[in-house]
Amino acid sequence: MLNKVDPSRVYRLFYPAVPAVVSCNDRGLVYSMPVVSIIPLSNDPAIIGFASSPQHATHVAISQVRSFSVCWLDSSKVEAVKVLGSTGHTAPDKLKAAGLPHSRGKTLDVPIVEGSAAALECTLYHRQVIGDHELVIGKVQAAWAIDDFQEYWKFERYRPLLYTGLQGGALGTHSAPGLD
Ligand SMILES: Cc1cc2nc3c(=O)[nH]c(=O)nc-3n(C[C@H](O)[C@H](O)[C@H](O)COP(=O)(O)O)c2cc1C
Repeated sequence: MLNKVDPSRVYRLFYPAVPAVVSCNDRGLVYSMPVVSIIPLSNDPAIIGFASSPQHATHVAISQVRSFSVCWLDSSKVEAVKVLGSTGHTAPDKLKAAGLPHSRGKTLDVPIVEGSAAALECTLYHRQVIGDHELVIGKVQAAWAIDDFQEYWKFERYRPLLYTGLQGGALGTHSAPGLD
């Protein structure tokens, strides 16, 4: 038997999902937040999108600077991802404050988190209001991944984070079952 689900909770039916960390640099101020809603939208040209609440400081900053990075961090960074996803922009460099050193992208002035499994450098392509969120669309200008990615992930070294939402007040970010 299927139980009725409140439509405002439908997004939780998509869990578990692998979140990515979206960041940007606005004249030395580093903004960052995890997003679980990220999806590929076009393969050639490579275009990606994520749904963001327009209230997030990172969203506002990306709208200004019109470039951002996407970094996939593995399960060893779970605590830092929790910090990024549960605090607003209080320190000038939110990534460093969360214990995530970073360097400038090779193509764009966007922060690439040290130890990322994969990273994208994107320019802002389009923003579209969708209900209470905005679809933030980025054109991929450069893409990078560790050796574990050979056309596909081999999952020999990469241990993805899996996000299951807020459970009992704690952030449920878990490593993938069967991989640890
Ligand atoms: C794993 C994870 C995934 C998240 N995914 C999204 C998302 O897809 N869209 C969104 O608007 N917020 C998402 N959030 C919430 C924001 O990351 C969070 O509110 C963050 O603190 C915003 O930071 P900022 O105000 O410094 O930009 C997510 C949080 C976590 C922990």
